[in-house]
Amino acid sequence: MDEERTLGQRKRVDGEGLRFVLGHFATGITVITGRDEERRARAITVNAFTSLSLDPPLVLYCLDRSAFHFEVFSNAEAFAVNILAADQQALSERFAREAEDDLAGLGTFELTTGSPVLAGCLAALDCETEALHEAGDHLIVIGRVTGLHVRDAAEPLLYFRGGYRRLRI
Ligand SMILES: Cc1cc2nc3c(=O)[nH]c(=O)nc-3n(C[C@H](O)[C@H](O)[C@H](O)COP(=O)(O)O)c2cc1C
Repeated sequence: MDEERTLGQRKRVDGEGLRFVLGHFATGITVITGRDEERRARAITVNAFTSLSLDPPLVLYCLDRSAFHFEVFSNAEAFAVNILAADQQALSERFAREAEDDLAGLGTFELTTGSPVLAGCLAALDCETEALHEAGDHLIVIGRVTGLHVRDAAEPLLYFRGGYRRLRI
């Protein structure tokens, strides 16, 4: 049965309830890639990504202050947004864990900034870091888009209610 329920109307909501309700907003999955100070490739799975402006071309993502790679991406002058295809769930899982050898064994290429782009991704946006904004326990990272890439005829990997999904058309 299709039931509706109100979870709470207090001024302060708890993190667990907020996370549960936000999980009803279906998203794609991106992997943000970049390079650390030693030019080593780094990657983190992110679904808090959105378009921001067409002119100038801006996008943003939200970076968790407690993320393993917080220092790398909050200091990076550039990054790439890799929008994952349906057959790349393993990459989403891989980059949601901390790792030292982030992109070892994976095919990558570069667009404009030198950030590694994941071979086989549905689409990619290469960005120069434009601005950072503090926002609670996350940092909003705004990027100016300098390069674009798409893979025709591929389907997206989706995330909904805490699980990976596919398009059913
Ligand atoms: C589906 C999914 C979406 C995520 N979205 C974000 C996000 O938007 N921003 C973020 O900073 N971390 C996000 N994460 C968590 C990071 O991927 C994770 O913190 C990072 O890879 C390092 O792991 P650790 O810091 O928990 O060890 C997400 C993880 C998953 C599985």
